[in-house]
Amino acid sequence: MNIVLGITGGIAAYKAPDLVRRLRERGAEIQIVMTASAEEFVTGTALQAVSGKPIRSNLWDKEAEAAMSHIELARWADVVLIAPATAEVMARIVSGAAPDLLTTICLATEAPIALAPAMNHVMWNNPATQANRAVLEERGIHIVGPGIGSQACGEEGAGRMLEPDAIAATVFNLTGGKGQGLLEGRKVVVTAGPTREAIDPVRYITNRSSGKMGYGIASAAAAQGADVVLISGPVNLPEPPGLEIIRVESAKDMFVATHEAIRGADIFIAAAAVADYRPSAIANQKIKKHDESMTLQLTRCPDILASVAALDAAPFTIGFAAETEKLAEYARGKLEKKKLDMIVANRVGQDCGFDRDDNAATVLWNGGERSFPTSSKVELARNLIELAAEHFYAVRGPETQPRLSIISNND
Ligand SMILES: Cc1cc2nc3c(=O)[nH]c(=O)nc-3n(C[C@H](O)[C@H](O)[C@H](O)COP(=O)(O)O)c2cc1C
Repeated sequence: MNIVLGITGGIAAYKAPDLVRRLRERGAEIQIVMTASAEEFVTGTALQAVSGKPIRSNLWDKEAEAAMSHIELARWADVVLIAPATAEVMARIVSGAAPDLLTTICLATEAPIALAPAMNHVMWNNPATQANRAVLEERGIHIVGPGIGSQACGEEGAGRMLEPDAIAATVFNLTGGKGQGLLEGRKVVVTAGPTREAIDPVRYITNRSSGKMGYGIASAAAAQGADVVLISGPVNLPEPPGLEIIRVESAKDMFVATHEAIRGADIFIAAAAVADYRPSAIANQKIKKHDESMTLQLTRCPDILASVAALDAAPFTIGFAAETEKLAEYARGKLEKKKLDMIVANRVGQDCGFDRDDNAATVLWNGGERSFPTSSKVELARNLIELAAEHFYAVRGPETQPRLSIISNND
């Protein structure tokens, strides 16, 4: 796949080299086109090194234009991706202005165009930017993201560029070709987030899970070419692009949704923090306070993970063990008792695990283990998916593995 990758002048341009790598890992050929402002944030030298091609930036570069004109570049592209896309470039594309090479290509191409906006949340929510977004979408331009979260300016909100993996997956899905990820053609079901177990119409029992790990894993699997079904408990996260999301509330709902989705699945990853117990009866009306104390009778919830692992045609099944103590011991016990293929053990507590952006984990399987030091949940998810794919093919037979195009370590 030929991709013209436009890089514009946003702070997220620092992620561009990683994005180039992710796209190339999937077999894409990349021609980078930078705006003048982008050159303030990231050097052409670095980008040339990772893309393996000289950078284009100046519309009036006679030599480059003679070698491949802007019109030839526009025809060469199977997709034009702009990441990060500034508010300014969105406005230029909406107006049809073409004062630079990148926007000239956008006007001259018949290929799909995708923009991954990245900007301060106030800029993103500005009515002008939102009107531009709406016009771009009406014209069939794909808007990938942005994500919600902490921003370079120190504030929180919508406007973060999505992670390179997620952008790469979306771009490959757009053009119908899923690229050459490790999980190409595989179906992966992931559960994420907490569950809510109703006590009465207004109260419920839940836990501190934010869903970030499960969402990261689902995105990483999609980025590796898998068809992903994400079964999500109630979370406050943006929907990752390029996968199917089924939203549920209780452990019972998650059990039903999982067993529906699991048919034909190759891999099941249970990252959700499912309640172990639920109130035995849900009061029809709000419970009124009377006595100094009250007793809530609880009943065991269905064990989703064990029930999937026990299926005759069980997929490769990976569980999570979130523990506050005796991590490895409890995790290995759970691996054996529930007959899992792998278990990801991570410590949870005041300053680690739930509702954070980073995490460390030890992955255990029958006869081995591997530890991953603290890193962002996005990076950890990527590592976990690569390890899961490796073991999945080891169990199912390497002949089922897609052939990958490997880029050199120098890249
Ligand atoms: C330090 C700095 C950071 C900036 N970050 C962003 C950004 O993240 N998103 C954005 O839309 N504009 C950002 N801008 C403003 C753009 O660089 C500016 O609108 C520029 O004209 C964009 O040009 P381009 O779209 O041709 O690259 C930033 C400006 C500065 C000085």
